[in-house]
Amino acid sequence: MLRGSAAVPGDKSISHRALILAALAVGRSRIAGLNPGADVAATAAALRAMGARIEAEGDGAWTVDGVGVGGLLQPEAPLALGNSGTSARLLAGLIAAHPIRAELTGDASLSARPMARVAAPLRRIGARILGDRLPLTIEGLYPLVPARHRLDFPSAQVKSALLLAALNTPGVTEVVEAAPTRDHSERMLSLFGAQIEVDGPRIALRGEAAIRPQHLSIPGDPSAAAFLAVAALIVPGSEVRIEGMGVNPTRMGLYEILAEMGADIAFSGPRTLSGEPVADIVVRHGPLRGVDVSAGIAPRMIDDYPALTVAAAFAAGTTRMRGLAELRLKESDRIAAMAPLGAREDGDGLSIAGSGGAPLAGGFSVDARHDHRVAMAYAVAGLRSREPIGVAGMDSARTSFPGFAAALAGLAAS
Ligand code: S3P
Repeated sequence: MLRGSAAVPGDKSISHRALILAALAVGRSRIAGLNPGADVAATAAALRAMGARIEAEGDGAWTVDGVGVGGLLQPEAPLALGNSGTSARLLAGLIAAHPIRAELTGDASLSARPMARVAAPLRRIGARILGDRLPLTIEGLYPLVPARHRLDFPSAQVKSALLLAALNTPGVTEVVEAAPTRDHSERMLSLFGAQIEVDGPRIALRGEAAIRPQHLSIPGDPSAAAFLAVAALIVPGSEVRIEGMGVNPTRMGLYEILAEMGADIAFSGPRTLSGEPVADIVVRHGPLRGVDVSAGIAPRMIDDYPALTVAAAFAAGTTRMRGLAELRLKESDRIAAMAPLGAREDGDGLSIAGSGGAPLAGGFSVDARHDHRVAMAYAVAGLRSREPIGVAGMDSARTSFPGFAAALAGLAAS
């Protein structure tokens, strides 16, 4: 059984945004609780290569000395972004609005992921972008044209790229979302003093205004906590507490579905941290039932289907998830990746018949294919299988949650 308190890393999405905006503020920002994974480190390295000073303080916090909106320098070498889609998309927007040239490179997984979704709207406003996959060369332009962008699919990364480009573009840029996606960029832009207005699906940002450095604390990542929460739900006798987890409503889809499945998850101590809602949660083992998960909730839990699939594998009855086309475009094809767990592809969805709480048979190995969330999902499933589940590429957890194995071991030991 798993018992005790677990620390989860700072939210990965919020960490990228904190570094980027701090790099654009004039003066020194301080960021506590930054996500320690390789993805956020890739954003930090890219920002350093474009002139920001980013340094670790002794106490785990980071200081960032920004260059000012519009002040990024041309990097001397390609920006190596590893596995990080968020770095690639957000930095593409940022670079596009500066008169600099930069090449973005990534690992095999990132190099296979679509970039046209961000390149096309940036080209439309004047940037030159060579290629629709990494390696991608961006020849930015100042000033880009302020425009109204209508997104025809939900993507917080594309939305954020356009808002970051807008920050160094004169006039007002509008982004109209297809469906609500994580709003961390909007919250953090407003925290840094940017002139941003949100009205339903419409976001308007007036560019070329200076932004002010901040002292930030990053909430715990609900998508990292998801794996520890699901572990506690499926291992009998477990009770796990996670403190300071981000509970932004645009990220809470998984927790809402787990509640519908009958999961015992108690939220307490709601508070606000750097413009984001956070709370403490206690998760206890108990029976789960299969549910139908509608397509509409997908943008609010897009990273959490691997964790949900593990929970569903132990539920009584079948769980059906719909509207998952975007999952095929993540670090790996996350619909196909769940097949060894017994999940069946069902068009743009998947369905899985649960064990009713009984252990899985196990006795198989999977390849995580450079996908941290797939690796962590199978590691959790293996906590309750008769025979072991092998995971090749478990080290990919370092992308977002380098302390994952230690956190699980700590809970198991206590
Ligand atoms: C993210 C947005 C999502 C998510 C990714 C992080 C972000 O991607 O899957 O892990 O930080 O904006 P999309 O915007 O492509 O859906």
